[in-house]
Amino acid sequence: MEDFTFDGTKRLSVNYVKGILQPTVTCDIWDEIWNFQAKPDDLLISTYPKAGTTWTQEIVELIQNEGDVEKSKRAPTHQRFPFLEWKIPSLGSGLEQAHAMPSPRILKTHLPFHLLPPSFLEKNCKIIYVARNPKDNMVSYYHFQRMNKALPDPGTWEEYFETFLAGKVCWGSWHEHVKGWWEAKDKHRILYLFYEDMKKNPKHEVQKLTEFIEKKLDDKVLDKIVHYTSFDVMKQNSMANYSSIPAEIMDHSISPFMRKGAVGDWKKHFTVAQNERFDEDYKKKMADTRLTFHFQFYSKSLND
Ligand code: PPS
Repeated sequence: MEDFTFDGTKRLSVNYVKGILQPTVTCDIWDEIWNFQAKPDDLLISTYPKAGTTWTQEIVELIQNEGDVEKSKRAPTHQRFPFLEWKIPSLGSGLEQAHAMPSPRILKTHLPFHLLPPSFLEKNCKIIYVARNPKDNMVSYYHFQRMNKALPDPGTWEEYFETFLAGKVCWGSWHEHVKGWWEAKDKHRILYLFYEDMKKNPKHEVQKLTEFIEKKLDDKVLDKIVHYTSFDVMKQNSMANYSSIPAEIMDHSISPFMRKGAVGDWKKHFTVAQNERFDEDYKKKMADTRLTFHFQFYSKSLND
């Protein structure tokens, strides 16, 4: 049992739980996580890491608060939305936070569908899943692991590229994650969204979320939510940009949490050879699904 005050002088270790790589502190409390008792009015936001979780959390809370920005600035993201399987020895755990929080709760998880605590489905909870194209997702995760000492050192970009393709990162294979939740979406109360759609037409996706949450908001409130959850505004919001996490754990001078917030940034990282290797691997791993992704927005400029 890794029970110490985590000060970032060394990175958290990782281990496997049910074949999925996790911080060892999570593996140690796995039975408690698996037996978590969801409540029917819990709203769960589920994602593969770096797919747009924080953005969605902010949108969903503003929908529930009917656009009350001050209310959503009452505390930083990691305190407002218990992260189910997360535990930082010096900061507490998602389970403790969830137990202490009054309903209705908005919870966060990165667990693959087959590791979702069964009570969420037994209680028929509403679940929002957000997926992001794997090339941008990989780049974002790489930079996050550089700056976040609670996850393993990613090594060089070349090394990380292979680690990610092999699914040997925390929360496992991107391909299995997005496919697992995709297959589950029509059998349960799951709204499946895409980061790229949120970028392309944020108001449309905010409307979809509003309907799913069964709220009625007028057009002005929808516009206000789109504005306050835009990348530039959220980047400046200290309650949504993770700047309140001690710098020994998340060092924003290495790479800010709110880094680029773009579609197609992968093109600045992938070599031609890596891109070919990625596409070949993607074709094989995604051959058994109809799920598709946008990897870039087309424009007239060839440099885009
Ligand atoms: S985490 O750690 O898993 O909760 O991270 P997550 O929030 O899922 O993903 C972080 C990436 O999402 C980007 N982000 C946004 N993009 C567009 N608009 C808004 N409002 C927004 N908020 C966060 C964030 O910048 C990370 O992506 P990258 O590509 O690294 O910039």
